[in-house]
Amino acid sequence: MSLTKDDKTNGLELQERVFNPSFQTDNDLDQSSLGDHQVQCISTITCTGEEQTAYTQIKPYAGMPKEVLLLYSSQTRYRLPREILFWLTIACTLTLIALTITVIALSPRCLSWWQTTPVYQVYPRSFKDSNGDGVGDLRGIKDKLSHFQYLNIKAIWISPFYKSPMKDFGYDVEDFRDVDPLFGTMADFDDLLASMHSMGLKLIMDYIPNHTSDKHIWFQLSRNQTEYYSDFYIWVNCTEGIPPNNWVSVFGNSSWTYDPVRGQCYFHQFLTEQPDLNFRNPNVVKEMTDIIHFWLKKGVDGFRMDAVKHILEAKHLRNEPQVNPEEPPETVNTEFQLYHDYTYTQLGLHDILRNWRVDLDEYGREPGRNRFMVTESYDYEETEKTMMYYGTRFAKEADFPFNFYLLDLPTGLSGVRAKELVNLWMSNMPRGKWPNWVVGNHDKARMSSRAGQDYVRVINMLLLTLPGTPTTYYGEEIGMENVNVSVIQDPFGKFNPNNSRDPQRTPMQWSSGLNAGFSDSKNGTWLDISPNFTTVNVEVQRGDPTSVLEQYRSLSLLRERETVLTRGWLCYVWADGDVFAFLRELDGLNRAFLVLLNFGEDTETDLSVILELPERLTVHMSTSSGTPSSFSKSKITTSKGQGLLLEYSTNQRFHPGHASECYVSEKACYLSALDILYQC
Ligand code: GLC
Repeated sequence: MSLTKDDKTNGLELQERVFNPSFQTDNDLDQSSLGDHQVQCISTITCTGEEQTAYTQIKPYAGMPKEVLLLYSSQTRYRLPREILFWLTIACTLTLIALTITVIALSPRCLSWWQTTPVYQVYPRSFKDSNGDGVGDLRGIKDKLSHFQYLNIKAIWISPFYKSPMKDFGYDVEDFRDVDPLFGTMADFDDLLASMHSMGLKLIMDYIPNHTSDKHIWFQLSRNQTEYYSDFYIWVNCTEGIPPNNWVSVFGNSSWTYDPVRGQCYFHQFLTEQPDLNFRNPNVVKEMTDIIHFWLKKGVDGFRMDAVKHILEAKHLRNEPQVNPEEPPETVNTEFQLYHDYTYTQLGLHDILRNWRVDLDEYGREPGRNRFMVTESYDYEETEKTMMYYGTRFAKEADFPFNFYLLDLPTGLSGVRAKELVNLWMSNMPRGKWPNWVVGNHDKARMSSRAGQDYVRVINMLLLTLPGTPTTYYGEEIGMENVNVSVIQDPFGKFNPNNSRDPQRTPMQWSSGLNAGFSDSKNGTWLDISPNFTTVNVEVQRGDPTSVLEQYRSLSLLRERETVLTRGWLCYVWADGDVFAFLRELDGLNRAFLVLLNFGEDTETDLSVILELPERLTVHMSTSSGTPSSFSKSKITTSKGQGLLLEYSTNQRFHPGHASECYVSEKACYLSALDILYQC
């Protein structure tokens, strides 16, 4: 190592490095005195007193040479704080890492958008008509987006609007990549989606994998045996008029139709005009998967998977067993006369859905952009079949399968019945999964007509205070009723008028104006408007705190605001012929709710046996007017169809002592000191 003066640069050179000469100038240091002597001193770091004095006169500041820096840095007054700072930094970093890991490990999973909002079903033909043709359309939906904001609903499922000959009102798809002109154009769709997203609303599409319309180009090419498409549908040899087996369609009669073009029979689980796709053909799977990608790329937020249990059927064509073997086979022409061992829920179905789940997840990695999947399958009492759609610990499938149990509430309506149906889902749902509740849809008669108007409010209160995602069919938020339409439009209704789905599909009642504010049409609407539209409509109910609409809205807002309603325990505390009562409580949170619902007649409920409840309960909300502001727990009076949301404060939880009466999807506890939730 040598230190030399460089004449050209007027700097001091140590090895090859150039130093700022100014530091010598500042210290009046004679550069020529820095020679081998100094280098030797620095390299050994033991200097004679004279030498040390020379260098220690140089004050430490930025730009000093390494030799001087080393000289100072080894002094205790510099070394000690430096070491303290160093170890402090290490300690702080380690603490931060440990804290981060703890917070991550203790934080409960954030709820996804489809868990924090009700899902609202729009039946597009009936929601809002923007062009006066008497049929609802996409622009109409866009015009009414503020209704969802008003209701605090952020997820909208729109029933099919694909190009369709409308034999089953859109569930017979002619082109999965196009919008039917009746509903608008693809530009209208893009516009609707963009508007929804800009308002923070999510759009769930209906996806119909089981079948297409017979007008779909695939079917046309398949019946002509065009090579790639030849096996896109299920074709079997048959003689005209003689089906190959006893399989029947959901809409009635044989599920086989002879096609004179191909000279074979094709299979259809629904209408003749809805031929079933052949999902055993990998090209069908690929084409149908491409369609999912097409819509995901457009940005849709999820799919309601239609009629999934029908996707596959057995390859052998054995007859299905009759429910009543004594019945003459020629009289068996409805779904409920057969056990569908060979046509429903066949092996391989869940593989198909799980693969689509993977596709959805690929598009859903960004925060807040999870793509949602709900499956439609009516398995009735075969609960375990429905629960399979939740997937397993290792293979994700639907976020949830639709829970249709509450649709049976009007059959034997009572508090006991309500508890039984709620429990049917909760006790069978796989651990950690998310529940959901449906009280109406386009296929089922409206609750208000089956249970009665008196029970509309209490049913909405049940729907919005249970844990899990509520689904609301358009019009339920105002208590719309079934309508006896003058001309049957529904193909199912044409087969059997008692099964017509038209009554629950009549136009949305927006106001007391022309066509209930649904349409400007002077020539009527596609289905009759309900005669009660002047009293049951959005306009008259808005702002009236006693209306079905305002009560729905209050509950929807409350549900978002109160963590205990989204993340807390559900515990049954009472069920009798009239009343069903349950608690919603959260560990660590003293504020809890008792929900007491009357599905029978006027009555008095005594809950003094529930020791965890305090003596007095405050009325947070009542669906009837004239309710007192609080009740003693031993005497809670409710009238027919009344719903009560009672609030109380306690530090004693009910669930620890009543495990069999309580459910929670993912346990979380509240830490009031920090106002946070943690896993516990
Ligand atoms: C689903 C729909 C129903 C339709 C059927 C056939 O069940 O909800 O409306 O008719 O599938 O696609």
